[in-house]
Amino acid sequence: MSEEKKDAKEISIEEKGNNAEQISKEFKEHSVAEFFKKNMQMLGLTGKIKAMTTIVHEYVTNSLDACEEAKILPDIEVQINELGNEHYEIISKDNGPGLTNETVGKAFGKLLAGTKFHRMMQMRGQQGIGCSGATMLSQITTGRPTKVITGTETGKAISVEITIDPKKNEPKLANLTELKKEFKGTAVKSQFKGVKYVNSEQAPLEYLRRTAIANPHAQITFIDPSGVKTVFERTSKIIPKKPLEMKSHPRGITIDEIITLSKRTKARKVNSFLKEELDRMGDKAVQDLTKMVSFDLNKDPKQLEWDEAEEIVKGFQKIDFIAPRTDGLRPIGEERIKKSILSIVTPEFLEVNTRKPQVYAGGFPFQIEVGVAWGGGAGKTVSNAEKDEEGRAVRKIEIMRFANNAPLLFDSGGCAITKAVQSIEWKRYGIRDAENVAMTVFVNMVSVHIPYTSAGKQAISDEDKIMEEMRLALMDVGRKIYRYVGFKKREEEKQKKRKLFNKYATEVAIAVSELTGKPMKPIEQKLLEIIIKRLKIEEAKDAKEQAKWENVSEEEIEKEYEKTKEKEVKAKKKKKTKVKNKGDEE
Ligand SMILES: Nc1ncnc2c1ncn2[C@@H]1O[C@H](COP(=O)(O)OP(=O)(O)O)[C@@H](O)[C@H]1O
Ligand SMILES: [Mg+2]
Repeated sequence: MSEEKKDAKEISIEEKGNNAEQISKEFKEHSVAEFFKKNMQMLGLTGKIKAMTTIVHEYVTNSLDACEEAKILPDIEVQINELGNEHYEIISKDNGPGLTNETVGKAFGKLLAGTKFHRMMQMRGQQGIGCSGATMLSQITTGRPTKVITGTETGKAISVEITIDPKKNEPKLANLTELKKEFKGTAVKSQFKGVKYVNSEQAPLEYLRRTAIANPHAQITFIDPSGVKTVFERTSKIIPKKPLEMKSHPRGITIDEIITLSKRTKARKVNSFLKEELDRMGDKAVQDLTKMVSFDLNKDPKQLEWDEAEEIVKGFQKIDFIAPRTDGLRPIGEERIKKSILSIVTPEFLEVNTRKPQVYAGGFPFQIEVGVAWGGGAGKTVSNAEKDEEGRAVRKIEIMRFANNAPLLFDSGGCAITKAVQSIEWKRYGIRDAENVAMTVFVNMVSVHIPYTSAGKQAISDEDKIMEEMRLALMDVGRKIYRYVGFKKREEEKQKKRKLFNKYATEVAIAVSELTGKPMKPIEQKLLEIIIKRLKIEEAKDAKEQAKWENVSEEEIEKEYEKTKEKEVKAKKKKKTKVKNKGDEE
């Protein structure tokens, strides 16, 4: 057989595809734990630095959530110890409500399990794959369990070692012992390999600093691998109000959600089930709905069919409902944001704005808060930054993103907050180069459901309504900066004028005295009086102008901006023709 023919035969055997029978031998089921074990990147648990920060994030957000629900002023301590090359131990401790013997295993050793996923409530965690994801990473990189000590209000505490059985997605507990000492709260100790501690903008220290900014009621202590201790003192002793659990609004609910709710309800009839489980669902709405559906609303909700739920959803679209309740949201608040921002930067001007609650697609209430610190020591310096005339490093814009008061440090490009900040025409507000300006922009979105772009919870999806609210909040603050900058410019001009006039008054007085032979001092005095009178008239005019600025509208700013743009274009053209002429000459 020729070589060619031999080749062709072998290929044909290899290329023969498998039939359904053969393929079906490979058909297997997997647990959610196995899925995430293979896809740790989806939980933000890849990348040496990112994984380290994400673990700290998971432990700390859980502590804050638990303290908030239990109405406890949080005291949190995080310690990172280096055990070897890219091998660390993370210890995180809180003074929260603790976990019961029944739930501690599932909390740390089962994915998609927790107290938050099924509730419409403003919390930092929402999927039930946070600390359990960390347990998984620990066991697949070091083979070790996660040690948890937890004690409830009775003071009775237990210590237990937890791993996850990936095949079943169930916790495995070992060495469960009762502690002799009293302890209230939860402490976790786990080890990880393939992670790295550095001191960068995306590292645990910065993460905790930002957590402290958005959670002024929390006391946070951090001990880094070299033993350096940093304490972020609480700046507020007021425990935030407990976030309220909210119900789904009929306008945003899906057929599937109705079916799910109908299986869980204690109500005996569909009409009472709808009234109990949904927001803004009153007798009037039930009466309207009765006329729209083909079945009896007195039937047992457990017997509700898909087609019937579909009729309900269709009916809801034709009924006038009051907008969803939003009073369960807990924004940080303007005063507290101001205090927090001033504790980290020394700006020349600071403005904050907490918008009213709104609802985005799906019927989820949310609220946007922004703070912009401008000028002076606002913004950040970068290593090898350019220097200004006085040798100071040029400061740059710093955008701090938060979702339910938890900092977002990764995936900034894909986040609605970054997009909103970048979409603002800062020039319109007197800020020429928004990248290179001493400015700290703080944006927090609070909601009963944050639409994260992935399970890693690092970026907010750019839903229309969310983008609109963020933009409106930023524009409002921008207007105030514009007013301030305008005022400052005029003040500076006034001072300049004063200095100049005074200088000339003396010089002119000397000259006049020489020419007339009269004494200089009275002439100078007279001149100064005239100047003061003139300046007073001008200042009165300025004050009038200032009053106008105080009430400047977005449209007026827009007009002003158009004018400056036109001027700029004209100036550029002029410059170009000049250069051209110069070129012609040469
Ligand atoms: N420090 C803690 N104190 C009290 N409860 C906790 C703590 N950490 C975790 N839990 C419980 O464990 C559950 C699972 O946590 P996690 O996997 O991070 O998911 P999520 O926070 O999204 O619910 C939480 O819902 C909470 O009930
Ligand atoms: Mg969590």
